[in-house]
Amino acid sequence: MTIAVIGTGFVGVVTAAVYASFGHKVFGLDIDQKKINKLKKSQVPFHEPQLEDLLKETQKKNHLSFTTSYQEAIQSADLIIVAVGTPSTIDGGVDLKYVFACAESLAPYLKSEAVVVVKSTVPPGTLDLVRDKIKSRTKTKFNLASLPEFLREGSAVNDTLHPDRIVIGAENQTTFELLGELHAPLKAPIVRVRPESAQMAKYAANAYLAMRITFINQVADICEKSGADIEEVISAIGYDKRIGAHYWYPGPGYGGSCFPKDVKELAHFFKQMGKTDNLFVKINQLNSHRINLLLTDYGRKVGGFKDKQILVLGLSFKPNTDDLREAPSTKFIPQLIKLRAQIIAFDPVVKQKTAQAVFGQYLESGSLIIEDELDDLTNSADAIFLLTEWSELISLDYSRFRNGTKPQWLFDIRNRLNPVQVRKWGFKYQGIGRQG
Ligand code: UGA
Repeated sequence: MTIAVIGTGFVGVVTAAVYASFGHKVFGLDIDQKKINKLKKSQVPFHEPQLEDLLKETQKKNHLSFTTSYQEAIQSADLIIVAVGTPSTIDGGVDLKYVFACAESLAPYLKSEAVVVVKSTVPPGTLDLVRDKIKSRTKTKFNLASLPEFLREGSAVNDTLHPDRIVIGAENQTTFELLGELHAPLKAPIVRVRPESAQMAKYAANAYLAMRITFINQVADICEKSGADIEEVISAIGYDKRIGAHYWYPGPGYGGSCFPKDVKELAHFFKQMGKTDNLFVKINQLNSHRINLLLTDYGRKVGGFKDKQILVLGLSFKPNTDDLREAPSTKFIPQLIKLRAQIIAFDPVVKQKTAQAVFGQYLESGSLIIEDELDDLTNSADAIFLLTEWSELISLDYSRFRNGTKPQWLFDIRNRLNPVQVRKWGFKYQGIGRQG
């Protein structure tokens, strides 16, 4: 089958490369010429493990090509996958302008009976709006479907090749069959539902996971003050099959490009229905305030952050990505600088160039220094913040940062270090909800 994937963010590129690896002829389409130039040379414009190899392999076989031309990508496509961004509006709603722009741009080149699939996260009811946009520009017959995405950044290729399920929201049998056939090589359960349910399933899955993280963070906070240890509590309740011990390690709150946005959008839909007081508003509030509360607590421990030197380890929102969207570092660092601390930071992949867009003003003023190498890091910091659980950061021998002449705190924001070992190295240790 011939497939066009519109949007070359991590979802679009991974989707295009995986379908191409099944032997389909795939076009990756984007209006950003710079990105397309890179992708044509199999260069991935962001950090995503395994993706470059998959691009090289599929491009070498001529199964995958990239273009900025709607005509070239759409005219022969049996299937068009829309995977563009759906950012939040200022009031927390969803901005569908990129999805609509795609619909209008692809319409003139549509092949008869082509299927336009919306993979971007959109609210229930969006397909009708997309249909109107396309119909305003063509008389060609087409079908619509919704195919929500469940992959995670940092493991996007693996998640796409080994999904827990594929959810297809379609309006007729032919479309269900076409999308079923496309995903058959994955041997995953296929859930066939109406488009509105597929769209809501995506929001519900992300909001549930965000709620789980918020829940365990609250329990961790109670543990810390009550003599209980969150890791012991998780191990005790995790045996309950209804609950499980997975996907709720406590930390600084959820970040990234999806959970914060999707929870806010659900809260917004609910508000629009007159339900101002809803669960999603509360999850968002608790998560948004979390880092400030942690910093207040840590500030007391360190004796205030004014003129303190802080070592920040990990800038990306999670390991194996260079994505800084809603990363804890983007809240910790500005707040620490506001409190007049001096920051030295390190991340295995986020270097000065990537960080510039987010931390430019702090880098220029000298209140933030990002070092390229672990070996360049200071051993005289008053406090170390382990913000992202990169494997190279959790396996470090932290004694390299120990300065025998003064007390130093190690704030293990991801609970990945052994408190006993950290104390042996001579640091004062604070995890999240841990007694040590
Ligand atoms: C998330 C979902 O997990 C994917 O299923 C979904 O497709 C994706 O959003 C999306 O909507 O595109 P992602 O944001 O890449 O994926 O990353 P996760 O690994 O789910 O982590 C999200 C946030 O929760 C991170 O800030 C992470 O540090 C935090 N987290 C995760 C915790 O604090 N505790 C955990 O136990 C797990």
